[in-house]
Amino acid sequence: MPIAVQEQNPIETIKAALTNVSVSEAKGQDTPFDLRSYSHFDATPSIGTEFRAYSPDGKPTLSIRDILGNEQKEKALGRLVSERGVVFFRDAVISPNEQTKLVESLGKLGGKSSTSGLHVHPLTMGGSEFGDEVSMISNKYVFDKTFKRDDFTVIKRKFHANLWHSDITFEPVPSDYATLQIRKLPQVGGDTLWASAYEAYDRLSPVYKSLLEGLTATHVGQGFVDIAKRQGTTLREPRGSPENVGQSLSAVHPVIRTNPVTGWKGLFVNRGFTKRINELTQHESDNLLNFLFEHISANHDLQVRFRWEENSLAIWDNRSTFHSATEDLDDDERVGTRSVSLGERPYLDPKSTSRREALSKARSQ
Ligand code: SIN
Repeated sequence: MPIAVQEQNPIETIKAALTNVSVSEAKGQDTPFDLRSYSHFDATPSIGTEFRAYSPDGKPTLSIRDILGNEQKEKALGRLVSERGVVFFRDAVISPNEQTKLVESLGKLGGKSSTSGLHVHPLTMGGSEFGDEVSMISNKYVFDKTFKRDDFTVIKRKFHANLWHSDITFEPVPSDYATLQIRKLPQVGGDTLWASAYEAYDRLSPVYKSLLEGLTATHVGQGFVDIAKRQGTTLREPRGSPENVGQSLSAVHPVIRTNPVTGWKGLFVNRGFTKRINELTQHESDNLLNFLFEHISANHDLQVRFRWEENSLAIWDNRSTFHSATEDLDDDERVGTRSVSLGERPYLDPKSTSRREALSKARSQ
C-alpha cells in the first residue's frame, strides 16, 4: 500500500506566517527580549496578543510589573504592540501615573522626537482629578467631570459604526501609543474593539492602494470644539507638543501612513475625525471615505473584541489601529484611565512595505 504523503495544510502554513511571528524574530535581527517566550496567545490572525495571568502551557507568565522600568523589556513591548496593533495583560496592577510613564517610554525607546510628550486632551480642565496627562474615560462624562455626556438610553444610542476612531488624529502630531485600564467595571458590557490598519490596507486592490497613496485627508475634532463652545470654555493648548496648538483642532495627514517601528503601511482615516479627502471633489471624497469607514467597521475579520476584567490593561499603537468602545450600558457605570503619548507627524515612506509582504518575505528567508 502506498504511503500517503503528509502534505502541509496550506491554510495552516498561511496562518503560521501571519501569527506567532515577529518580523524581527523571524529575521534573527536584534531582538533584545523575546516576549513570546512567555505564556500568551494571538487573539486573531491579524490583530491582538494577550499575556495570560495563569499559564496553561508551562511557559512562565509575564506581568506588566515585570516590564515597568526595564528598558529592554519595554522596548520589546513597544515593538510587539506596533506589530500586533494591541497587546493585553490580564493581571496588570498599574497606577494611572505608571500608565503615563509606560506609554511615553514605549515611544521614546522607539526613537520618537524629544518634543513629543504625553497628550493633554483639549477638554481636560486644569487641576483635573488624575492630572493633565490622564484622560478619564467614562460612559457618563466626556474626558472631564465638567462635560456630561448625552443621554445614551437605548433609543438615543448612536449607530455604533460611528464610534470607530484612532485617538486624536486632529492633532498635527498625533499619538503613537496609548494605554487604557477600566477601573470601575460594569456588571456586563462595555467591551472595546480594535481593528488593524495594516490589514485594512493589505485587503485593498493594487489600484486602490496606489490611488490612496497619493492622497491626503483633513482630520477635525469638531465634537470637542462644539462641547467647549457650548460650555463657554477654551480648549487646552499646547497639547503635549509645541505643534499641537490652536482652537480649531484640525490637521492634514496622508491617507496611507508608514509605521516607523515596523516600516509597514496602514490605512490612516477614521470615521471619528476624518472629514475630507483633499485632492477629490466633495462627492468623491464622501463616497470614498464612506467606503473606507465601512471597510474598517464591517470587516470583523480584521478586528478583535476585548472583554474587560479587573486589572486588565490594553496598550495599542494608534498609528496602525482603530478602536471603538461599546456603549451598551444602561444605568451601570464604567470608568477608566487612559494615557496617550505623541509620536511623529504622519508620513508615507514610498519604500515601506505592507505587513503581509513583510511577513511572507521574512518567512521565505
Ligand atoms: C477610547 O476611545 O480611547 C476609549 C475606548 C473605550 O472606552 O473602550
